[in-house]
Amino acid sequence: MTVRSRIIGCGSYLPSTVLTNEELSRRVDTTDEWIVARTGIRQRHIAAKDEMTSDLAYHAAVQAMAHANVTAADIDMIIVATATPDNTFPATATKVQQRLGVTGFAFDMQAVCSGFIYALTTADMYIRNRQAKTVLVIGAETFSRILDWEDRSTCVLFGDGAGAVIVQAHEGTGTVEDQGILASRLHSDGSKYELLHVDGGPSSTQTVGHLRMEGREVFRHAVTNLASVIREVLDDTGITADQINWLVPHQANQRILDGTARKFGISPDRVVVTVDRHANTSAASIPLALSEAVHDGRIKRGDIVVLEAMGGGFTWGASLVRW
Ligand code: ACO
Repeated sequence: MTVRSRIIGCGSYLPSTVLTNEELSRRVDTTDEWIVARTGIRQRHIAAKDEMTSDLAYHAAVQAMAHANVTAADIDMIIVATATPDNTFPATATKVQQRLGVTGFAFDMQAVCSGFIYALTTADMYIRNRQAKTVLVIGAETFSRILDWEDRSTCVLFGDGAGAVIVQAHEGTGTVEDQGILASRLHSDGSKYELLHVDGGPSSTQTVGHLRMEGREVFRHAVTNLASVIREVLDDTGITADQINWLVPHQANQRILDGTARKFGISPDRVVVTVDRHANTSAASIPLALSEAVHDGRIKRGDIVVLEAMGGGFTWGASLVRW
């Protein structure tokens, strides 16, 4: 018997405060026109002062659990993908665990914007190795806390939020007709540290630090790396690009989304886009987009869905799922 990891529920949470481009242009030397033309971003959500990553994660998790019709007692394992944990330790996942009343085990995963793909792939491995049956996978971030709000080249790009999925073991036949995760690929390249990093941390500066990015260089690598990792999951399954029903990309920049979809001949109306309203929410962006497209009925059972991301490290990866 083949064990398949099925995504049986999705949830999301966005902080109530919305920061528009117009408001940002009163803080730094930028304009709504520049931001929209270069990125597609129109607004982002910003966590309240007393709202932490674990709070965002908790709310998204509660919604995903209700959607999947599971209770805390059903969950064996929690992974929170985040680069903005509440504390250096313990893991934010353990805070979420305590609040939900889950007795299984919980840990964080750090692969910046690829964090959700890394976490989903890890959940799939635990499930297929029969170490867990029902896993809560969350992407949650408060990037507003690590932005340099005086650096116009980065502060306009990011937002806060959380998305969550419930992944569960189901019996499959071992063919690509099975529902569930059919293939995943992960990559990293530590030589690109300078292009995208945070200039602080417990062991280096004993501070949290600020995000630093060479945007143009990151952009160039993103389109190439994303195209090659999507090609890998297609080749792994024998599924062709024209069979993809939905592309759910990490939401970094509308131009990256367009460039990637174009390479595979995927029409724009098959790409789930939230970057205009959420900006880049790092590890949260894929589960936020997924949740939106599942709850509004776009993604249906049986659809082929490709999830992909690239982020600091560099890290990048993709998962191909039959919904
Ligand atoms: N408002 C107005 N002007 C700006 C702003 C701003 N907010 N930011 C930069 N500029 C200026 C620059 O100073 C530069 O001016 P100059 O030519 O006088 O020097 C000019 O705009 C062009 O700057 P570039 O950086 O070359 O602009 P580019 O077209 O590359 O767009 C952007 C910048 C949007 C950052 C783009 O490179 C990008 O999206 N890169 C990818 C970033 C990304 O996806 N990161 C996330 C991936 S990983 C993760 O999610 C953590």
